[in-house]
Amino acid sequence: MTAKVTVIGSINMDLVSQAERFPDQGETLLGTDFQTIPGGKGANQAVAASKLGAEVTMVGCVGDDTFGQPLVTHLKDQGIFNVNVEPVTHAPTGVAQITVAEQDNTIIVVPGANAHVTPEIVKQNEKAIQNSDILLLQFEIPLESVEEAVNIANQYNTTVVLNPAPMQPVPLDLLEKVDFLTPNEHELTELLDTEEKKRFNEQYREKFFVTQGSAGVQFVENGNETIVPSYNVDVKDTTGAGDTFNGGFSVALAEGQSYSDACRFGNAAAAISVSQFGAQTGMPEREDVLRLLDKESD
Ligand code: RIB
Ligand code: NA
Repeated sequence: MTAKVTVIGSINMDLVSQAERFPDQGETLLGTDFQTIPGGKGANQAVAASKLGAEVTMVGCVGDDTFGQPLVTHLKDQGIFNVNVEPVTHAPTGVAQITVAEQDNTIIVVPGANAHVTPEIVKQNEKAIQNSDILLLQFEIPLESVEEAVNIANQYNTTVVLNPAPMQPVPLDLLEKVDFLTPNEHELTELLDTEEKKRFNEQYREKFFVTQGSAGVQFVENGNETIVPSYNVDVKDTTGAGDTFNGGFSVALAEGQSYSDACRFGNAAAAISVSQFGAQTGMPEREDVLRLLDKESD
C-alpha cells in the first residue's frame, strides 16, 4: 500500500547567497554565489515525502507573481500527486533569504502568500486529510489554520505529525491533539517555556521526537529513552535537513514502520540531503535511502 501524506504548509522561493562568512552588523560583504531554489518548510516536506515514496497532497498558497507559477509547476514535476495551490493576489510569494557560510546558514523568511493559507482553505481539503495516513504540518502558515487542520484530522483519526518550526508559542490543547512532535533542541526549549508546558512534556513525553542534528533523534517509547543515531556525511548545506527528516519519518510511519525504523529512515534521508547543496535540490530518492540503510546494516 502506498503511503498517503497530506502536507499543509508554506511554499517559498529560497534566495540563496553563499559567502565565506556571515557579514558583521552594518558590514557589506562580497558573496561568492547566488541561486534561487524552491523551498518553504511545507513544500520541502512534501517533496521529500513524494521522492521517498508517498502519494502526497500539497496544500498552500503562492503569489500571483514571477515566483508563484514556477513553484507550482515544480511541485508537480517532483511527482506530487495532488497540488492544491492557488495564486493569491495582494501578497507576494513567500521568500526565504538564506546565507550559506562555512558549515552554517542563516535564514530570514517573509511569509507573503503563506499567511493567506486560511482555515477556509484547509476546510476545502477535508477529503484529502480524511483519506491520508499522515497529516504533516509546520508553523509557516497561520496558527488557526494549523489548528483547523489538526481538528479535521482528529475527526477522521488521521495521524498528525507537527514539526513546530519556526518556533512560535503553541496552545497546549493543540499539542495535546497531535500525535507526533518533531522539534529540534532549540524549539523544544521554547516549547517547554512554562511550568504548565513542562508538566505537559512529562505527561506526553512519548509524542516528542527531538531532532539533534548529528547526534540523532531522541524519543521515549514504553518509558524507555532511545536515541537513533544519524549518519556520518560530509556536510555541504544543512538547509532543509529537518524537512527531509520530517518527510521521511512521516512516510515510514504511514507505512507502519516502527518508531526506530521511521527515525532511521528519516535520518538516512536527511544525511543524504545535507551532503548536497540546497533544500529541495539535495533531497534523495527512496532507492538512495534504502541503499544507505542497507550499507549501514552490513
Ligand atoms: O527549513 C528550510 C526552509 O525554511 C527553507 O527552504 C526556507 O524556505 C524556510 O522556509
Ligand atoms: Na541540502
